[in-house]
Amino acid sequence: VRLLVIDGPNLNLLGVREPTVYGTETLEDVRRRVGERAASVGAAVTFEQTNSEARVIELLQRAPRSVDGVVLNAGALTHTSYAIADAIAAITIPVVEVHLSNPAAREPFRHRSTIARVVAGSIAGFGPRSYELAVLALVEMVRERVR
Ligand code: DQA
Repeated sequence: VRLLVIDGPNLNLLGVREPTVYGTETLEDVRRRVGERAASVGAAVTFEQTNSEARVIELLQRAPRSVDGVVLNAGALTHTSYAIADAIAAITIPVVEVHLSNPAAREPFRHRSTIARVVAGSIAGFGPRSYELAVLALVEMVRERVR
């Protein structure tokens, strides 16, 4: 199973950015964890981070050519982007929405996800473990061919 993890805007600042909300692990730390977890279940994972909405859309459009599933933390674009929602709807491989924090417990503008209705599922509030759980779920989905 091949997976792609896409991190959107401001996630390059992980570890430095609002550590009381997002924790002290850097994006590199999170990637190491996720890579180890993926390897432990026989999956290969590649990583992308971008601050650009356009780049997230391009990565999603291209993903089916090289991977079986996508883990997406779209950052604040989660709450605003219909274009990312359309890109997810346009591809047939499963996409899992992840968040480090639990947006439902935060400011009202974070309570709505434009992508919620087109993703395979959402995992939020477990810090870096949200990504690990998403990887485990995707690997099982892909192996069972549930889409
Ligand atoms: C986030 C939650 C979003 O509301 C926020 O804009 C982020 C990070 C999270 O991982 O908790 O950038 O997606």
